[in-house]
Amino acid sequence: MNDPALGTEALRERALATLVTARDRTTLLTGCVDDPDLTAQHSPLMSPLVWDLAHIGNQEEQWLLRAVAGQEALRPEIDSLYDAFEHPRAERPKLPLLPPAEARRYAAEVRARALDVLEHAVFDASRLTRSGFAFGMIAQHEQQHDETMLITHQLRKGPQALTAPDPRPAPPFTGPAEVLVPGGPFTMGTSTEPWALDNERPAHRREVPPFWIDTTPVTNAAYQAFIADGGYDDPRWWQPEGWDHIRRHSVRAPLFWHREGGQWLRRRFGVTEVVPPDEPVMHVCWYEADAYARWAGRRLPTEAEWEKAARHDPAGDRSTRYPWGDADPGPDHANLGQRHLRPAPAGSYPAGQSPLGVRQLIGDVWEWTASDFLPYPGFRAYPYREYSQVFFGPEYKVLRGGSFAVDPVACRGTFRNWDYPVRRQIFSGFRTARSQEAD
Ligand SMILES: [Fe+2]
Repeated sequence: MNDPALGTEALRERALATLVTARDRTTLLTGCVDDPDLTAQHSPLMSPLVWDLAHIGNQEEQWLLRAVAGQEALRPEIDSLYDAFEHPRAERPKLPLLPPAEARRYAAEVRARALDVLEHAVFDASRLTRSGFAFGMIAQHEQQHDETMLITHQLRKGPQALTAPDPRPAPPFTGPAEVLVPGGPFTMGTSTEPWALDNERPAHRREVPPFWIDTTPVTNAAYQAFIADGGYDDPRWWQPEGWDHIRRHSVRAPLFWHREGGQWLRRRFGVTEVVPPDEPVMHVCWYEADAYARWAGRRLPTEAEWEKAARHDPAGDRSTRYPWGDADPGPDHANLGQRHLRPAPAGSYPAGQSPLGVRQLIGDVWEWTASDFLPYPGFRAYPYREYSQVFFGPEYKVLRGGSFAVDPVACRGTFRNWDYPVRRQIFSGFRTARSQEAD
């Protein structure tokens, strides 16, 4: 996606297609429940769905109508209601939010005007419109909220509201359990991907010593072995803050899991089912991922290791856009875009593997890395400090690769996500690594 050589009309079509795809998804996620459900807060960690809906419209208005096209504010009085920095999620249900019908009307009106702006946009008029950046940023923003809204659906009590076909069953993966990534420098981040966000920039060389990385994400079966071995009862495996956290909150298994009749069950979008052994483990926090890795005699990969495993092509000594090369993600490469409402079995998507044979780096589950969220050398905040800069620091850990809930427009080999190490309502899993010196 976003080939820098795209002509103006192709770029316009691409921007239009990504905006339409995002809105279709938003409509589905907000149309499958009734109004009381849209205005309810399903968890203090999340906004009411109706907040996301109008916030999506408000961001689009601020960037595409006001910043790009210089239009007057449609409803200046609502800006502060939908400012994510002004109101933490827990507070949002108490705000005088637009009711569902009005939120829908507002988002639709903004969209109609934004499509008009797009139709007449000159893509090299400013940095904001160069290569359609502002349109791509807004499509990514909406898709990120579509992922957030899917998390709200997962936290929501009550019967199933969403359905999707399951991923194709896969034969048990019989390849090597880990892959050696050779040492040496590689190019991390990007300076050429037109819709990449500020924190992915600029491209820079990074020295990474040789390391081994799991071929697939850690599975539910492997994680159950950690639980069965008393992993949650042994402080040796845990960071002190993590140990303290799981004691205080009685964390004994991934979120949404419970034990019944001698087996592990989980609740997934309103349905209770047996935890499938061959799927990547999901809804674990960073502390759990880190503890599992230590129990297994391994560690989490650093962010640079993860990206090298995903983008480094030893044959060409260059970094590709995705593990499989430079082509946009297709349905055979990765489980993305909420086509399925669960990860695919470990070892799926052989067409999406890296040149070294690492699988499922993109899609399925977000992967926790060992690294804090920090700026790359030469980082410059764009187009606003609150996108990334205010989050840099040791309190956030980086997640990579996207989940089944992430749309291809918001997923790249360079894409960086971050969250608190205690968070596990997100679609988070992990894989482990070890340094080669340990041989
Ligand atoms: Fe937002």
